[in-house]
Amino acid sequence: METINCGQARASHIGSKVSLYGWCRLLRDHGGKLFIDLSDRYGTTQLVFDGAAKTEAEKLGREYVIHALGTVRERSPDTVDNESKTGAVEVAVEYFELISESRVPPFELIPEKGRFLADEELRLRHRYLDLRRPKAVHNIVFRDAVTKEIRKFLWGRDFLELETPLLIKDTYETGARTFLVPSRLHKGKFYALPQSPQLFKQMCMIGGLDRYFQIARCFRDEDPREDRQPEFTQVDMEVSFKDEEYIMSIVEDMIASIFRNVLGKEIKVPFARMNYAEAFGTYGSDKPDLRFGARIEDVTREVAACGYRIVKRVADNGGRVRAMRFKADFGKPGSRVTTKQMLGLVELAKGFGLGGLTWLYMDGGSVRSEPPSIADALGTAAAAIASKLGAGDGDVIVMGADLSDRFLLGALGKVRKALGDMIGDFSTDYSFVWIYGFPEFERDEITGALKPSHNPFTAPTTETLEHLDAEPERVIGRQYDLVLNGYELGSGSIRINNPELQRRVLRRIGMSDETIDRHFGFMLEALSYGAPIHGGVALGLDRLVALLAGEENIRDFILFPKNKRQELLVDGSPTPVGTDRLREDYGIGNAGPA
Ligand code: AMO
Repeated sequence: METINCGQARASHIGSKVSLYGWCRLLRDHGGKLFIDLSDRYGTTQLVFDGAAKTEAEKLGREYVIHALGTVRERSPDTVDNESKTGAVEVAVEYFELISESRVPPFELIPEKGRFLADEELRLRHRYLDLRRPKAVHNIVFRDAVTKEIRKFLWGRDFLELETPLLIKDTYETGARTFLVPSRLHKGKFYALPQSPQLFKQMCMIGGLDRYFQIARCFRDEDPREDRQPEFTQVDMEVSFKDEEYIMSIVEDMIASIFRNVLGKEIKVPFARMNYAEAFGTYGSDKPDLRFGARIEDVTREVAACGYRIVKRVADNGGRVRAMRFKADFGKPGSRVTTKQMLGLVELAKGFGLGGLTWLYMDGGSVRSEPPSIADALGTAAAAIASKLGAGDGDVIVMGADLSDRFLLGALGKVRKALGDMIGDFSTDYSFVWIYGFPEFERDEITGALKPSHNPFTAPTTETLEHLDAEPERVIGRQYDLVLNGYELGSGSIRINNPELQRRVLRRIGMSDETIDRHFGFMLEALSYGAPIHGGVALGLDRLVALLAGEENIRDFILFPKNKRQELLVDGSPTPVGTDRLREDYGIGNAGPA
């Protein structure tokens, strides 16, 4: 008796006696015979019951677990399933035992066979069932393969896989809030869950462990967003005595080896590199999707003398007018962007805060518009815009105007992203680019306060450090972000390794010496004992795996993800905790220590 899994039976097994375990996924009673598709994570094998075995098997239901013994035989030609690896054979069951019964599943587990995929909330509530779906299995197994390849690669490059603590000091918020954990032994005191292992990996470098990596769980209490989870995983790295080029090349080689060994594809390294100023000035984003063109060009001069009042007024008042072009057929002969799609884009642009969006199209060598009065009002400016953009027949032009050029670029960048979603189908699947040369600081949009663009540990470039006191916005950080198809896949920097400079940077973002010492005293102290030149990077693993699989929903690649309201539906967390317990165990809710 050979024990096989549900994905193993092949023609070579015909005549053998086999033993297999699995879940009864599909049951079909065909008069004298009962067919059951028995499934596990490896696949599905068709079981056939007749005679006495059939009578016994009639009490089985969907998702019951059984152990079956029988003989592998050839399927009759009309029942061969060429789509399935086991589709040439079936197992005639001689004996089976019921291992456990199942309640009727609340949703269909084989939607791949043309059935409707159940609502995500319902699937997350029963994620253990959802994981039995072939597509879900595939995603999780794919994640495992990528993770294994990352480990193999980094071990091969002499990186140590180290674990940094999860219960740490509550320090400084980098945009997200921190999850706090009360201490029972130290009533009234709290640990924080790390937003990333940042300071600990730096302390590894100070400790001389010069090549560190960790598949690190990170926790951020931030407002839910489609591609974010409160608990997520980073491939976190740090090295000593190296520069940004070295770190970028390690990441490139690692990704190339994932492509080669997991996806069976070759990708070109090194990846493209683009200065932040160019990325924002050309694509309106620090994470441009470079799978398509649509560069955002300045056409303020071109519209200066036209009669199209909406944009001209902005130009006359010192504002800017910018435009981009794309192929109306999205590069696929025969298809065509619709007026409805364009009107949708205009509405989106308004949602991004633009007054509106003008769209024009090239036809028979001239610029046309809908309604035609726009092209008329633009007059000769229309041809000038088209020429500036290099637009030819079959191109669509979209144009926006605003008094703030930065705002205009950002908004058109979002329009461009929406355009990318509309196109959806590109000649290249993966477009990687490193963005570097970020400002060290940025201003908070609401308060105007100076804050770090990446984190306050990023080293300023030597050439721009002199502006730290007088014009901090001119300071450039030694930061580099890896972008894939318009998503920020990872981020890293060369760090400050000098305690005095670290203090100056923290002061610059408005922290008093007292606050600095309270939050970061330990780090400044560590830096004062001979800190090597060091830097690193962290890639979002959930995002990396999803994008490599050609998908966007990171929840599909997380074993037990939180939903959009940060609830873990499968266990019902978060849950309330009684005030008695809070008081007695943690000293919370009464006077307690300060
Ligand atoms: P950063 O904050 O940019 O850098 O994070 C690195 C990468 O982690 C991923 N990521 C997330 N993925 C899912 N859900 C989230 N909530 C989430 N937040 C971030 C992104 C991001 O690019 N300590 C620095 C790294 C360094 O400098 O070494 C850091 O954490 O893909």
